[in-house]
Amino acid sequence: MASGDSLILGIESSCDETSAAVVRDGREVLSNIVASQYDLHEKFGGVVPEIASRAHIERIDPVINKALSEMGMSMADIDAVAVGHRPGLIVSLLVGVSAAKALAWATGKPLIGIDHVQAHLYAAALDDKPIDYPALGLVVSGGHTSLYELDGPTESQLLGRTIDDAIGEAYDKVAAILQLGFPGGPILDTAAQCGDASRLKFPRTLLGKDSLDFSFSGIKTAVLYHVRGVPGAVREGVEKGRGRLSAQDVADLAASFQAAVVDTLRIKLRRALRATGARTVILGGGVAANSALRAAVEELGRKHRLTVRLPALEYCIDNAAMTAGLAYHYLRAGRIDDLELAGTATVRR
Ligand code: KG4
Ligand code: ZN
Repeated sequence: MASGDSLILGIESSCDETSAAVVRDGREVLSNIVASQYDLHEKFGGVVPEIASRAHIERIDPVINKALSEMGMSMADIDAVAVGHRPGLIVSLLVGVSAAKALAWATGKPLIGIDHVQAHLYAAALDDKPIDYPALGLVVSGGHTSLYELDGPTESQLLGRTIDDAIGEAYDKVAAILQLGFPGGPILDTAAQCGDASRLKFPRTLLGKDSLDFSFSGIKTAVLYHVRGVPGAVREGVEKGRGRLSAQDVADLAASFQAAVVDTLRIKLRRALRATGARTVILGGGVAANSALRAAVEELGRKHRLTVRLPALEYCIDNAAMTAGLAYHYLRAGRIDDLELAGTATVRR
């Protein structure tokens, strides 16, 4: 290893993925181990915090050991330990934060607490060239739908966020209404590929004329009423119950839902681009893996000559590589934490 290289061990446990990664100089991912818990939460149709926490406790040490041993490394090779410490499920965050603090204490390496949402907005730089700032960042995940103006990897200002459901949550709930399984995002994305997006007209909730906030609870209810019928109303021709929806009905519904939410995100991005004058758009979060959203943002970039930065698919879902990558910029700036670092459930404003 050339002198001057910086190797950071990242740890992530904010929701239902246990992950550890080693990243060199902020962008070169040497290892990225992700243990997902879909099987544990599927029957509940959503993440159960206590089950997630217990699974993190069982998996965190093996995952960290694998991230190091895969590269033939030990903690002696590592320059700093980074951990996603907010926002997220508090009982999940605590597992990663405790592990990171124990490692930092035992080895005397610097400890860096990383904001999970900001890490999602850094994922596009992994295994790729540096991001040009200023930029507009859109985080779309199971827990967040937020727009940021970014002046650098560590400098951001919130422009707007969802006032109710996150977009990934809407995907997961719509898939639950259709009894398609969990997590719903990838399942609906696949189902939508053979559907007719013009068959059903779902709402594009834009809020105020200049609003950069989002709302996805209305469309979720619109899907529910479409599938089960409006409570108390007798509507002829409405098929009630999943049992009577054909595979084509489900595909058309998925495509129509996806078209509505992607359209909403596209309109909000346009508004934010106009408001900020940014020339770079960054996408991050689990829903950034969505094929229709990626295509729409690429198209927006072509149309308005913007630089579009999409994370590789493996860095869209929760992962520790983005945590370790972003931490490099904090380490260089001398922004490190002490062992008082705490897990925090709430999002930074
Ligand atoms: O970023 P992430 O792993 O966790 C949070 O920080 O919340 O995002 C998980 C979310 C889930 O809601 C999942 O359904 C959604 O990302 N997702 C997708 C796709 N892949 C994952 N949503 C739409 N299309 C996809 N292809
Ligand atoms: Zn996330």
